[in-house]
This record gives sequence, C-alpha cells and structure tokens, in this order.
Amino acid sequence: MVNIKRRTVLGGGLATTLGMLMPHAVAKPAPRLSNFTAVAHADGKGKMPALASEYEYQVMLPWGDPLQPGGPAFTYPPNADHQPQQIGIGHDGMAFFSLGEHRGLLAINHEYGRNSHVLGFNTPRTHADVLTSQAAHGLSVVEIAERDGVWSNQKSDYARRIHVNSAVEFSGPVANHRLLKNPANNPYLGTISNCANGRTPWGTYLTCEENFNLYFGSAGSFTATPNQKRYGFTTYGGGYGWHLFDPRFDLSDKDYVNEGNRFGWVMEIDPMNPKAKPVKRTALGRFKHEGATAVEADDGRLLVYMGDDSRFEFIYRYVSDHPWRTMVQEGISPLDEGQLYVARFNDHGLGEWLLLDISNKTLSNEFIDQADVLLNARVAATLLGATPMDRPEWITKGLSGYMYCSLTNNDDREQPNAANQQAPNPHGHIIRFRDHVAGQHFLWETFLKSYDHYLGEGSLSSPDGLWADPDGRLFIATDGDQREGLNNQLLVADTTTGELRRLITGVPDCEITGFATTPDRRTMFVNIQHPGKGNPSRTNFPNPVDGTTVPRDCTLAIRRKDGGVVGS
Ligand code: FEO
Ligand code: CA
Ligand code: CA
Repeated sequence: MVNIKRRTVLGGGLATTLGMLMPHAVAKPAPRLSNFTAVAHADGKGKMPALASEYEYQVMLPWGDPLQPGGPAFTYPPNADHQPQQIGIGHDGMAFFSLGEHRGLLAINHEYGRNSHVLGFNTPRTHADVLTSQAAHGLSVVEIAERDGVWSNQKSDYARRIHVNSAVEFSGPVANHRLLKNPANNPYLGTISNCANGRTPWGTYLTCEENFNLYFGSAGSFTATPNQKRYGFTTYGGGYGWHLFDPRFDLSDKDYVNEGNRFGWVMEIDPMNPKAKPVKRTALGRFKHEGATAVEADDGRLLVYMGDDSRFEFIYRYVSDHPWRTMVQEGISPLDEGQLYVARFNDHGLGEWLLLDISNKTLSNEFIDQADVLLNARVAATLLGATPMDRPEWITKGLSGYMYCSLTNNDDREQPNAANQQAPNPHGHIIRFRDHVAGQHFLWETFLKSYDHYLGEGSLSSPDGLWADPDGRLFIATDGDQREGLNNQLLVADTTTGELRRLITGVPDCEITGFATTPDRRTMFVNIQHPGKGNPSRTNFPNPVDGTTVPRDCTLAIRRKDGGVVGS
C-alpha cells in the first residue's frame, strides 16, 4: 500500500491519506479489494513497463501491424496504401465485445500521432503523406482470440478501419442542417481525434471526437468567427498540415466553410455489423468530447455523461426522452431524441443540471434553432452559467450510483470555484457526483486531490483514464508530469476504504489510457499511447531497447498470474 500523508479533502469534510482517500469512517474493516504488491515509484523510470509482481502482460496490436492476418506488415514509415489496412496509432479508449469464451471484438480509438512519429518529418510534402497521416487516425475494430493464455489477432469479417475518409452519417437535431453543408456539396466523411469512448446497453460502441480543431489549418487568409475561436480553430492548427493538400481541412477554402462543424461529435459504431455506416449522434452536442459514459437511469431512460476536455470547459449529461428499451423497440435511437444538460457545481456539495434548449430565452436570443445550440454547446453552456472545470476527462460509474470524473489539471486557473479549488491546478483531481431523485439536481464531492498527493511515494499527477469495476475498484490512469520524471502510471483505488496502489508504470513519455476487460475480468486491455513521443532515444517499446527502433503505440493484455480478477 502506498504511503500518503493525511490530508483534508474538500467537499463534505472528507478526510484522506494518499493511501486512504475515503470519506466516511468504516465501521469494520472490509476485506481488501487489492492484494498485489504495489509497484515502486522508482520503477517508473524504466524503459519498459513495470507491473506488480503478481501480474504479467502481453503486447498486442501495435501501430502498423496488419489489421488482420495476411494484411501488409509494418514498415517504417508506413505508406498511404498500407496504413488503411494496418492498426492505427495513438491507442486510446476501447471496448471489448464478447463473441463467446476466449474470443471477441476489440474496438480501439486511434486518437493522434504526430507527423514526426507517423511520417518521420513534420510537414507533409505530398497528398500521399496526408493520406498516410489520416489513415493512422480514427479507429480499428479487430477480432481477437485467446489460446493457452496468448491473445492473437484473427482473420475476420468484422475487422475494419474507420478514419477521416470513411463514409459516415449524421442523425438527431443537427442532421441535414445547413450548418453541416458545404458549397462543395461533399459527402459526409470521417472521424478524427478519437479520444475516450463509451458503449451502449444495446451493444454498440461510442467513439468521441476531441481535439478535432488541430487537424484544420489555413493555406490562405482566415479570420476565425467567435464560435470558431471558442472551438480553437487557428491558421496553424496542430501542425498536421492536412490543409496543404486536402481542401476539406483548409479553413480559408470557402467551398468547405462548414467542414469544421462536422467534427466534435459522439459517433456510434455497430461492431457486429461491419457494413453499417458510423452515425454521428448530434443530440449529444458538439464539443471536445473526451468520452461518453452511458448509464441506465432508474426509470429506464438512458443517461450519457460527457466531459469536454479543455481548460474551463464543462461536464454534460444527455437524457433520452423515453426508456431506452422502448425506443429501441420502436426503431428510434435513444441517442437521437433526448435533452442535453450541462453541470453547475454549487457550494455545499449540491449541483444542478442546466438544460440546453432553445426554449430558454437566454439561448433563443443568441441561436437560430436547437441545432445551432447543440452545434455551439460550449457557447450555450457559458450563457447558462455552467461551472468552468479543470479539463474534464473520463467519467465512469462506480458503486452507490457515483459517477467519477477526472479533472486532469489546469495551469491557467486563477479563480477557484466550488468544484475546482486549487489555483493553479497543475496536478488535477477527481470528483464524484450522483444524480438526485428528480434528476435536475445532483450531489457531489471531491474524491481525490492529486495536487495534495504529489509529494511522496504515492505521488500521482494528471489523472485521466478512469474505469470503475463492479467490486468498487477505481482504475486511474495518468497523463501528465509525474513527479521526478516518473513515467505515467495505472493505479487502483478502493473507493470504499480509500486504499490506493500502483499497478503499472509505463515507458518514458507514454500515456496509459483505455480500459477493456473480458467479461470474467481475468484479462484487462490497457493502452500505451505515444511511447517516447515517437523518439527512439527515449524508448523503443514494444521492441527491446536498442536506441534506434521507432517506438509504437500498442495494447497490453494484462492478467494476474494466478488467474484472478484484474485489480485484485
Ligand atoms: Fe484525449 Fe483529453 O484526452
Ligand atoms: Ca484523455
Ligand atoms: Ca490527458
């Protein structure tokens, strides 16, 4: 168990240690949820992942491997013919869809890969370079099977890549709106910056478009509108240079003036139906979506909780109009007809969901219709007085109806507010909230203040990926400046006792992210994103250390050597 100094936690007078995070005194000691040997802080300086000694891992699905057996093998750098048939880069959110014992589909988001990593240089020189970069992004669906404890990628009719040149559809209030049409009359194509994810109770996958603005730039004269500014569109963008060869991403090209409005959505994919087009569900609003956590409410309606990961942006909740089962039976997507809310965190542990609807005068004064509200959800949420947060990342449902949300960090915060009390907040925190009876109010409290835990053996910073298992464990993956150059890590918290243990440390400059488990939770898949930031002098993972081989993003299948539940 990690030693952490006792600290006072805000929001409800909770007491915590860095080994003991929890609020309420426990009458009698519960059996420990985690009994593995915590990985030491110092192990985070290695070039290879370090796991608790009771655990082992297998590397799977590295960037550039064939999507399925028989496909083009990895060569560096990849090319525009091969990359669409290979695993993408920037492994992030994912989900496992069982096809029976020891077999299933893994849907994996490929959030981003810098040109210096994917192409080996910064600025694309040809349209083929852009196509290669584009095909490295998006997501993969692969079929995997386990035999004698080893997972392998299978030849499969389900296997597919979806990227920014794949056909997609729009549904919900913004579908067919003029704000999605371009003078070029080009078809709806693609998804980008696929960060965290969700899965629906009817068995589909949700992929979330986060920093989509970074893939746009301007080859000519461009002045951002106020709404474009709010979504971060700039002349240079993120340096990908797609706009140099692909006019869809050129903000100065009047023929594609609304192309940017086609991104920033939650997109649904049916992994079991490879012929079905992905669908962007516009009722869930447009912002920099981190993830989309779908939960069934007591009355059967579908709730989807979503973070918008930028400094001072918000937490949202979508509520379907009717019980999701009824809607599915009637052939209506529960993600198409419903209402979008944004969170205001008040003092004393109370909070309020503010409805983003054009019937509100504050919004009808500003927007032309509900589609305009959803398309510019950030602007609408500000007008309603939502609480600006310290970069909301993942949200997951734990015990007792609590939704846990990581607020990764915010160096720019000058004014604290009820739910973000550290200013500046370089190391982040985790809050938890639960909806109150009537549904428009919620209760909330701070669960973990990583900014108070930064010093000491139990140090962590910048919590990002979260996954709560049904036993009360909270898996916490980090993405940011860990103490003394410690690699990013995966920790396991017991949400009842507050115990916190380090399960994995990654490799230099990588982020650990993404969670999926087999139904028996004996295998957990986690992702190693941007190892070495692509620099072979930092790490060559998953290759052995040689100082020259380009590192590759990949998935780890981890398990307890004794076959127990992962996290125990
Ligand atoms: Fe893609 Fe906010 O992480
Ligand atoms: Ca993240
Ligand atoms: Ca992050």
